[in-house]
Amino acid sequence: MKHSPMLPTLTAALLAVAAIANASEPAKAPYKGDPAKGKEIASTVCAACHNADGNSVQSANPKLAAQHAEYLFKQMQEFKAAEGKQPVRVNAVMNGMIAAYNEDQMRDLAAYFAAQTLIGEKARNRETIEAGQKLYRAGVMAKGLPACAACHGPAGAGIPAQYPRIGGQFAEYIEAQLKAFRDGTRSNDPNKMMRMIAIKMTDAEIKAVSDYIAGLR
Ligand code: HEC
Ligand code: HEC
Repeated sequence: MKHSPMLPTLTAALLAVAAIANASEPAKAPYKGDPAKGKEIASTVCAACHNADGNSVQSANPKLAAQHAEYLFKQMQEFKAAEGKQPVRVNAVMNGMIAAYNEDQMRDLAAYFAAQTLIGEKARNRETIEAGQKLYRAGVMAKGLPACAACHGPAGAGIPAQYPRIGGQFAEYIEAQLKAFRDGTRSNDPNKMMRMIAIKMTDAEIKAVSDYIAGLR
């Protein structure tokens, strides 16, 4: 049978049309979250541990106020276990707390807490403040420990969407997270960024930098 000479041209034309159709399909903007809806859940449920405005008062419960919405959303997603799987970030309390919420509600909560004003902690240990500051600003070159400021910013405000705010957080919480990154019990950091850093830190360095960060603005 003789092929029609038109066929290849037609196919090419159809492919081109398909490509244009794909390219011009409007990208669906991700849902940004509604702080008013987030407030309802925050004040009735999360408030028990994080306070209604995200300024927790107990050091085991991190402050959420003014944290970047993208980071908050990521953590909530990772606390929630996918069907039949271990959650990416393991914490018995939060794995239970977040189970009831869907992605839109997580975005509502993230938008609400991100818009609150942080009431930061204070540094408490005068003796280690200088060492903590040095570590935060310059790292320890001799052992390839980078400066925290490189990613979390000179004032600890972080850089949305990748690097969380840490300035003003409870020293005890910071210390616990650094140790969890160090022993691998927290492993949800992209490209092992925090695990590779924490593994180079001594207990004394972790304590000093955590206390310094509590007072950082
Ligand atoms: C019973 C106490 C409790 C309640 C209620 C609670 N949380 Fe938590 N939350 C915690 C604890 C404890 C942690 C720290 C987990 C860890 O150490 O890894 C935490 C951590 C988080 C984090 C991670 C913060 C960070 O800096 O990485 C987010 C986000 C969070 N909670 C959101 C919520 C939201 C939203 C609610 C309400 C739906 C809520 N939590 C209710 C105890 C609680
Ligand atoms: C190369 C970039 C980078 C550097 C340098 C860095 N961090 Fe991080 N850090 C991250 C990222 C990314 C995350 C978020 C991990 C996630 O998504 O869960 C993070 C998370 C954290 C958290 C957890 C915050 C929370 O709310 O749970 C702490 C604490 C922390 N970093 C402390 C430090 C300290 C202290 C230093 C310096 C010794 C440091 N980081 C240096 C990238 C960095």
